[in-house]
Amino acid sequence: MRVLSGIQPTGRFHWGNYFGAIQQYIDLQNEDESYYFIANLHALTTIRDSDELKSLTLEAAIDLLALGLQPEQATLFVQSDVPEVSELTWLLMTGTPIGLLERCHAYKEKKEKGVAADAGLFTYPVLMAADILAYDSNVVPVGQDQVQHIEVCRDVARSFNHHYGEVFVMPDAKVLEASAKVPGTDGEKMSKSYDNTIRIFEPLKPQRKQIMRIQTDSRPMEDSKDPSTDHLYQLLSLFASDAECEEVAGIYRAGGFGYGDIKKRLADAAESYFSDARARREKLEQDPGFVQDVLNEGAKQARAKASEVLDRAQKATGLVR
Ligand code: ADP
Ligand code: TRP
Repeated sequence: MRVLSGIQPTGRFHWGNYFGAIQQYIDLQNEDESYYFIANLHALTTIRDSDELKSLTLEAAIDLLALGLQPEQATLFVQSDVPEVSELTWLLMTGTPIGLLERCHAYKEKKEKGVAADAGLFTYPVLMAADILAYDSNVVPVGQDQVQHIEVCRDVARSFNHHYGEVFVMPDAKVLEASAKVPGTDGEKMSKSYDNTIRIFEPLKPQRKQIMRIQTDSRPMEDSKDPSTDHLYQLLSLFASDAECEEVAGIYRAGGFGYGDIKKRLADAAESYFSDARARREKLEQDPGFVQDVLNEGAKQARAKASEVLDRAQKATGLVR
């Protein structure tokens, strides 16, 4: 089985990225083959500052390694280091109905918010389809919001295979339901677009401050509260042991507690949860040569696979004379 996923370097990773996506990458890295990449071509649709893009791309690689991605197990690379994917995108674009792209939530939402849409934003799912198909991927672990894009990929692949024969492998999305939607500091979905994120590697002091500022309701302290609908409790349950969750759920139901105490518990639990990753990150920061070597080796392996698939697609379409 071949697992593949990509993540955009459009900001430093937050808890939503970790529990919604990255944790699954780590869990799945021991499958037969796994490919993970930093989607800097996709990020070009939002970041126009070259230094910022370069730096975020490197930080993303360091973060993924610190969080537990192992280069001996998984192929880690940068999207633009595999130009075959861009070539494949064009082949797929010629068979992608406009209506299919117009229905994509990610595009529709941005357009409704008044974001000036360029062709890159509109055709983004086709590049994503090429990313997936270029490696004959079977399983694509992603957050819930990306599932529609995988459906687009399947539609495009199905139509291509219908016209040209069985060129592409059909991928399946894999969503971690339990944490499909990690809430942000305001209770809405955590997202850098809503400015409600808590970054995984934020220095501890400011991170504690952010946690203490998480919005909570203003019901009287003594009221009994339902933990299952409370975003602070949901956040705590990502980090805390089952026993601690049980205990805190009891405190909610009994009432008579202050949210400040729960926030302190959350800060402690998150600190201890990521403490090994923080230590690994400090080491990796001292060794940029190692990180670069990992990315170079990853790109080499990824290109070998992608060029094989591109060749298959080019032959099928009659591009190879
Ligand atoms: P953002 O919303 O901050 O821009 P991205 O869209 O770059 O984050 O998301 C990268 C990955 O992390 C995607 O697979 C996405 O589904 C997942 N993800 C992002 N935010 C959350 C969240 N709040 N809950 C669960 N998964 C998330
Ligand atoms: N669009 C994805 C996101 O924003 C990132 C991505 C790009 C991706 N190409 C991909 C994810 C291929 C999975 C497979 O999160």
